[in-house]
Amino acid sequence: MRPQGHMNIIHLDSKVSDEVRRNSLYEGHLFVFSPSASSLALCEFAREMIAEAFGGLDPLKAQYELPVEDYAKILSQLKPKFIHHPQSKAYIRGILEEHGCDPTKTYFDVPRMRTSTSDNYLTTGIAFAWHPHRDTWYSAPASQLNWWMPAFEIDANDGVAFHCRYWNEPVLNDSNRYNYYKWNQEHRGAATNYIKSDPRPLPRPLEPVELDSQIRPIVPVGGIILFSAAQLHSSVPNASGKTRFSIDFRTVHLDDLLARRGAPNIDSACTGTSLRDFLRATDYSRIADDVVALYSDGTETMGTLIYQPPQ
Ligand SMILES: [Fe+2]
Repeated sequence: MRPQGHMNIIHLDSKVSDEVRRNSLYEGHLFVFSPSASSLALCEFAREMIAEAFGGLDPLKAQYELPVEDYAKILSQLKPKFIHHPQSKAYIRGILEEHGCDPTKTYFDVPRMRTSTSDNYLTTGIAFAWHPHRDTWYSAPASQLNWWMPAFEIDANDGVAFHCRYWNEPVLNDSNRYNYYKWNQEHRGAATNYIKSDPRPLPRPLEPVELDSQIRPIVPVGGIILFSAAQLHSSVPNASGKTRFSIDFRTVHLDDLLARRGAPNIDSACTGTSLRDFLRATDYSRIADDVVALYSDGTETMGTLIYQPPQ
């Protein structure tokens, strides 16, 4: 039975405070923002790095010129370089400040660069095409927010899709098999190896999901889509004829962690938490142990506590 009273609310260039915005995000609203100085600078920085990695080739068309193994190798060097670059972190702090976040209480994890190749050229491993999922199936805290932006222009055949009817409708899934620490130990760093198929046990829906009433916000380069980690979302299968490069990062707010505020959990059963990955926007310090301890579920001995993005 479909729950009553569900609405899809999208705020455009909202000027509400960060606190009001977070509470709306925890109720399933989406926020879309025009590019800001720092988001544009981050995209420009990414584009320079991408151009360099592909040498003389057009990065949006390079997939048509290169054997897929060579392509995956380029990405496997480009991505960690971007993720760990101090300049990337500095731009994220800028983005947070430009959007009214308190940098002393806002923690982010390092930005990811995603690639979505066109026409199923490479959809596994280093360029994984995401099936519908909630990040909360992967040990994201309930208060995690995702900031997503395209680094090159996208059109209606591309981008990220939201399946908002599932905000308050559970999806049968196998997140109960997922423990964050075990995952870090067993699967980190392996993504690059998967060119033809991807055997990693990533939680997924175990029942059909209605995809055809999705919301696909199309934003310009540096435009930001902000959403709760509990929002069901997927990669739009890329049929645009060019590779998509996007950037995303996640944030949590200390006050919400302490108050255990966040999106309701309606169907996630994973264990562990990714909270140890987050860095404070001012000094890149980690979240204090006593705060992380609030989210302990006793599985801390199962593997590696801190995630290192794939090399
Ligand atoms: Fe996601």
